Amino acid sequence: MMPLDYAPGKVVEEFDAKKEGKRIHVVLRYPSMSDLDGALGYINAVMKETEFLRHNRELSREEEKEWLEGTIKGMKDNNKVAIFVEVNGRIVGSGTVEKSFGASAHVGTLGISLLDRYTGLGIGTRYMKTLMEKAKDMGVEVVKLSHYESNDRARHVYEKLGFKPVGTMPRARKDKDGSYQGETIMYRMLE
Ligand SMILES: CC(C)(COP(=O)(O)OP(=O)(O)OC[C@H]1O[C@@H](n2cnc3c(N)ncnc32)[C@H](O)[C@@H]1OP(=O)(O)O)[C@@H](O)C(=O)NCCC(=O)NCCS
Repeated sequence: MMPLDYAPGKVVEEFDAKKEGKRIHVVLRYPSMSDLDGALGYINAVMKETEFLRHNRELSREEEKEWLEGTIKGMKDNNKVAIFVEVNGRIVGSGTVEKSFGASAHVGTLGISLLDRYTGLGIGTRYMKTLMEKAKDMGVEVVKLSHYESNDRARHVYEKLGFKPVGTMPRARKDKDGSYQGETIMYRMLE
């Protein structure tokens, strides 16, 4: 185990993806406090596009500031890794792995999202591998994640990366129309 190589805004990886024949330059980097407005714009945009995230209302700047401060502190304390996906200077994706504590401090929970127009380009698969490498550096041995039952694309990506389902908790999501959806828990060892 080694401490996370966190530095504000540090670039972790860069690569090109292709969309409709055009090259998109993708930067994976650590957050800094100067990302507050970009990160707020991102979370409030992505939550409107997908029904697969837990967030279901707009966040205030104060709430996002609290999240960003806590996340950066977590990275300095070697408890959390957060990586933004940036295209043309704009945050288009966000992912984290956060350690549990005490006797389960070797277990990390992963969460990931991308703006819809950047999905299906292979970015999520590559991005998850990077997040897991960083989590392993931080001492994470088991990665846990979950997806709402009907999120077939996320399940496909997670299975492809070696995650195994543990089970599905019924009625984990309740939508505004009162309908429920289960949430499947998955795990993967980091050897
Ligand atoms: C889930 C998510 C992170 C995946 O990232 P991504 O960049 O879109 O994924 P990739 O392009 O790397 O891979 C997509 C894979 O899913 C497959 N796929 C696409 N739509 C699918 C569907 N409806 N059912 C099953 N598989 C599907 C693709 O064929 C591809 O598979 P392949 O690599 O074997 O060819 C991203 O789509 C996302 O952020 N979605 C919205 C928010 C979300 O659902 N977050 C996860 C919450 S648990």
